[in-house]
Amino acid sequence: MLKINSVSKTFNKNTPDQHKGLDNLSLNVSEGEFVTIIGGNGAGKSTLFNVVSGSMLCDSGMIELGGEDITYEPEHSRAFFIGRIFQDPMKGTAPNMTVGENLIIAYMRSTKKSIMKYPSKKDKMFIREHLAELGLGLEDRMNTKIGLLSGGQRQAITLTMATLVKPKLLLLDEHTAALDPLSAKNVLDLTNKIVLDNNITTLMITHNISSALALGSRTIMMDSGDIAIDLNTDERKNMSVQDLLIKFNRVKNKEFDDDNALL
Ligand SMILES: Nc1ncnc2c1ncn2[C@@H]1O[C@H](COP(=O)(O)OP(=O)(O)OP(=O)(O)O)[C@@H](O)[C@H]1O
Ligand SMILES: [Mg+2]
Repeated sequence: MLKINSVSKTFNKNTPDQHKGLDNLSLNVSEGEFVTIIGGNGAGKSTLFNVVSGSMLCDSGMIELGGEDITYEPEHSRAFFIGRIFQDPMKGTAPNMTVGENLIIAYMRSTKKSIMKYPSKKDKMFIREHLAELGLGLEDRMNTKIGLLSGGQRQAITLTMATLVKPKLLLLDEHTAALDPLSAKNVLDLTNKIVLDNNITTLMITHNISSALALGSRTIMMDSGDIAIDLNTDERKNMSVQDLLIKFNRVKNKEFDDDNALL
C-alpha cells in the first residue's frame, strides 16, 4: 500500500548546521496495517510524515501510495487521500466555526463536492450518524463552536473529519500528547476503534512506548533518520517496554534517549 524507498532529507545543506532528517529510509506498509512509531526527539518521525504528506519534499528516494508515485505530488492534492492529525487540538479545525460546519467542510472537501453548494439533507444525516458513533454525544452539539470544546472532544472531531471518507493513509503525529491522561486514553480508544472498524492503513507516532506496543499490529523504532527496529505482531506480542529498550541498546549500541517516553 505505502512503499517508501531509500528516502533521504538533509536540512541546511552546505552550511555548518547541515543535518540529516531522514537517512536512506525504506518502509513498506500493507493495506490495513496499523503501525505505531516511536523514537527519541529529533529521530525523524515528523520529517517522515512531512515527506509522506507532501508538506516537505524529500531530496532523493521514492514514495508510492496505492501503486501511485506521489514523491513530488503537491501537498494539497495528497490531502484528498492522506489524513493527518497533529498534537495541537486546535490545528486542523476552524475554532470559530461550529462542529457541524467544520465537519461539513471536511466532508465536502474529501468527496470533492463544492463547498459553495449547500450540503444535502443526506450529507448532513451522514455526518450526524458518524458523530453519534463516537458515543460522546457530540451529535447534539452540531451548533457549538469548536473552540468551546475540550481538547479531547476536538481531537475526536478532528479524527472524524479525517476519516469521514476513508483515507488511503492516516498519519497521527502524537495526536494525544497535549491531552490530560483520561482524554488521551479516550481518544486512543476511539482511534483504535475507527482504524480497525474501517481497516484504515495507519501510522501513529507516540512517545508512550507501552501504548505503541499495545496498539496496532506493528511497531517501528526510529533513530537518526532511519528505522532501527521493526517489530511485527508476533515479535511484539510478549515484549515489555524494558525488553524493547534493551533491544534498542543492543542494536544501536547506545541508550534510548527520549525525555517524554512514559514507561
Ligand atoms: N524544517 C526544518 N528545518 C531544519 N531542521 C529540521 C526541520 N524539521 C526537522 N528538522 C530537524 O530534523 C531532525 C528530525 O526532526 P523531526 O521533527 O522529524 O524529529 P521527531 O522524531 O519528530 O522529534 P520529536 O519527537 O521531537 O517530535 C531534527 O534534528 C530536527 O531539528
Ligand atoms: Mg515530531
